[in-house]
Amino acid sequence: MKSLELDRFQLGVCYYPEHWPADLWADDFRRMRELEFSVIRVAEFAWSIFEPEEGVFSFDLFDRAIDLAHDHGLKVILGTPTATPPAWLTHKYPEVLNVTQTGVQYQHGMRRHYNYNAPVYRELSARIVRKLAEHYGQHPAVIGWQIDNELNCEIDVFYSEADQVAFREWLEAKYSTLDDLNRAWGTVFWNQTYTDWAQVSLTGPTPSASPNPHQALDEKRFFSDSAISFACLQSNILRELAPKQWVTTNGLFGHLDSHTLTEEALDFISYDSYPNFSTIMSELRPGLNNPLKDRYWSWLLSGVRSISPNFCVMEQQSGPGGWTNRIAQPSPKPGQLRLWTYQSVAHGADMVLYFRWRTATMGTEIYWHGINDYHNQPNRRIAEVAQVGRELETLGSHITGAQTVAQVGIISDYDNEWDGELDSWHGPYTRQSVSAWFTALQHAHVPVDALYLQPGMGLGTLSKYQALIYPHPTILTNDTAALLTEYVRRGGKLVFGCRTGYKDLTGQCYMQPFPGPVAELCGVTVADFTRIGPDENAPVLKWSDSAAATDPTATADSFNDILQLSASSAEVLAEYAGGHYAEAPALVQNRVGEGSAYYYGAVFNVAVAGVLLEQLGLASPLVDLLEVPEPVELCLRETQAGERLIFLLNYSSAEQTVTLHKPSTDRLTGSEVFGSLTLAPFDVRVLSDRR
Ligand code: GAL
Repeated sequence: MKSLELDRFQLGVCYYPEHWPADLWADDFRRMRELEFSVIRVAEFAWSIFEPEEGVFSFDLFDRAIDLAHDHGLKVILGTPTATPPAWLTHKYPEVLNVTQTGVQYQHGMRRHYNYNAPVYRELSARIVRKLAEHYGQHPAVIGWQIDNELNCEIDVFYSEADQVAFREWLEAKYSTLDDLNRAWGTVFWNQTYTDWAQVSLTGPTPSASPNPHQALDEKRFFSDSAISFACLQSNILRELAPKQWVTTNGLFGHLDSHTLTEEALDFISYDSYPNFSTIMSELRPGLNNPLKDRYWSWLLSGVRSISPNFCVMEQQSGPGGWTNRIAQPSPKPGQLRLWTYQSVAHGADMVLYFRWRTATMGTEIYWHGINDYHNQPNRRIAEVAQVGRELETLGSHITGAQTVAQVGIISDYDNEWDGELDSWHGPYTRQSVSAWFTALQHAHVPVDALYLQPGMGLGTLSKYQALIYPHPTILTNDTAALLTEYVRRGGKLVFGCRTGYKDLTGQCYMQPFPGPVAELCGVTVADFTRIGPDENAPVLKWSDSAAATDPTATADSFNDILQLSASSAEVLAEYAGGHYAEAPALVQNRVGEGSAYYYGAVFNVAVAGVLLEQLGLASPLVDLLEVPEPVELCLRETQAGERLIFLLNYSSAEQTVTLHKPSTDRLTGSEVFGSLTLAPFDVRVLSDRR
C-alpha cells in the first residue's frame, strides 16, 4: 500500500495568498511559524491567476508568495487548479461543463462544474499542469502536489455529451459486443434490447427515477474510471517534470474507487476531516442513525487508512462551518479542534493542515471559518491550535510511520456500495449495520480497521484480523467466497448478515439458494425471508446461551432470513422469538477448519453487535492496562521501535476518568502517570506503553 513517509510530523494550514493584500503575507507566515506550522497548501483554485487569458501564463503572484513562505521556513504543497476552470474557458468551450441527468448544463459561479471527459478540458488541464510543473518542479520549497480538489465532491454524476461518448467507448472496451452488453444489463426485461451502440447512453430521467439497475451499476464504475483517468493525466505529467515531489489528492467521495486511484495516480491519499458535519447529520441524511456523532469520523478515517496506512489530512476543520446558503454548523466547543486533530493523528495521519488560515471575507465560504477571524486578532481557536503545535513538536519524529493496531476488520467493496445506492434491498442495511458494528466496537474499545476487498487481495491481508465482519455482501463471487473460506479454515472468525451472496458482478441474481457462494461455509440455507414492514415490529432474539443477552433492544431488525441448517457442524446461537417464523434459527455458527463462520439473518443493531462481539471473544487489547469509560475512544499506534502509543480521546462534554493499572508516560507532557487519570471535556491523552 502507498503511504506517506515522513521523518517528523508536519502541521500546517491551507493558505490563499490571492485572497489577501500582499502586505499581509509576511506577518501571516511569521505567525504560522510561531504556531509550529511547517507546511502550507496553496493555489488549488487559482487557474485564472496562472492563466489569465488562454495561452498566457503568469507565475508572478505565486512566485512571490512561495518564495516568501520559503524565506520563513515553510514548505509548500501546490494544488493543480482544475476544480475551478476560468470563465474564459467555460465561456469559449461550454462542452467542458457538466450536465445533470435531466439535461441541464451547470454554469459558472460555483466550482466542480466541469466534466472529466471533454477532450478540450483534458487538453487545457494537461497544459496548465505542465506549465506549473515546469515552473515549480524544482522549487526548493515545493514538496508535493495535490491534484485538483476533492474529485467527485459536490457532484459525482456526469451526463455531458463528452461523457455519453466516453461511456459508449468504455462499454465497447468492456463488452466488445452488443449481445454481451444486452446480457449483462438484462435488457430483455422491459424490452430494452439495444441493436446499435448509438442507442446506448448513461441513465436518463425515467419514470419513478428507476433506471435499469445493471446499467446504473456500470455507470458508477464508469464515473470512477473517468475520475481516475483525469487524475492519471495530471500525475503522469507531474511524475515526468517534478520527479522529486510527491503527488496526492484530497478526500474520499462517491463513485470513486479511491484505492485504485491511489495505486494508479498517487503516492498516498489525503483526507479532509470535518467532524462537525455530525451536528447537522439529521438535515443532510434524514433517517441515518449516528449515535457516535463526531466520533463516527474515526470510521471515515479508518477508510482513509485502508488506502494509505499513513496519510495526510489536507483540511482539518478549524472553526464553525457553513456556506452562505447551506451546511451551517455550530462553533466547535473549546477543546474540540484539538480533539479532532488528535482523532486524525490517532488514526494514522502524519501530516495535518488546518482549513484555513483566515476566514474568507468574500465568496460562498464567508462563514467557513479559519483559525483566524476576519479581524486577524488573537482568538480562542488560535490559542487551541498553538497548544496542538507545541504538543506535536514534542511528539515530532516519534509518531511518524507508527502503524495503527486493530484486531477486527469491517469489510466493504465498491461493487456493493454502488449497487446498494439504487437497491433498497441491501444498500441501507449495510449503512445501518456498519454504523452498529462500529459503535459497538468503539464502546467495547476494540480497535477496528476498514478493509476494502480489492481484486487480487490475498489471504495475508485478511489473516491479520481475529475477526472480519462483512455485513451484507449481496454481490459475491466464487473467488471472494473461496478467499473468505480459506480465511476461516485457517482460524478466522467471519460474520455475515442477511442479503448475502445472491448477485453476481453485473448485479443480476444467481439461481441458487441464499447465501449462494458462501452457503457451504455458513452451513445454512435461507428457507424463507421477509422485510420487516413499516407497521411491524422486529422480533426479539432468543439466545441459546441464556447468559448471552436479555437486552430487549437486541432485535432482529429490518429484514429476516429464516434459516435452515445444512451442515452437522452448524449450531444455532439465537432464534427468532416472534413472527410466523418464531423459533426458526436467526443466528448460526458454523465451525470450519480452525475457525468459524457466523450467519445472522437480520440487519445488525448496536445491541446485537455488542452481544456478538462477546461471543466472538473480542475485548480491548489493553484490558489489563487500562479501564476506559464508554465516551472515550481508545486507539493504538505502534512505532517501529516497538512502542505502543495509546490515544485516549474524550468526545463528551463531561469529565471522564480512565484508570491506569501500570505506570506510563504521558507523551504530550512528559510526565509519569498512574492510577486515576482525569480527562477534561474534549480532552486528549497520548500515553506510552513500552513492551
Ligand atoms: C472542502 C473543500 C474546501 C472548502 C471546505 C469547506 O470540502 O476542499 O475548499 O470548501 O470544504 O467548505
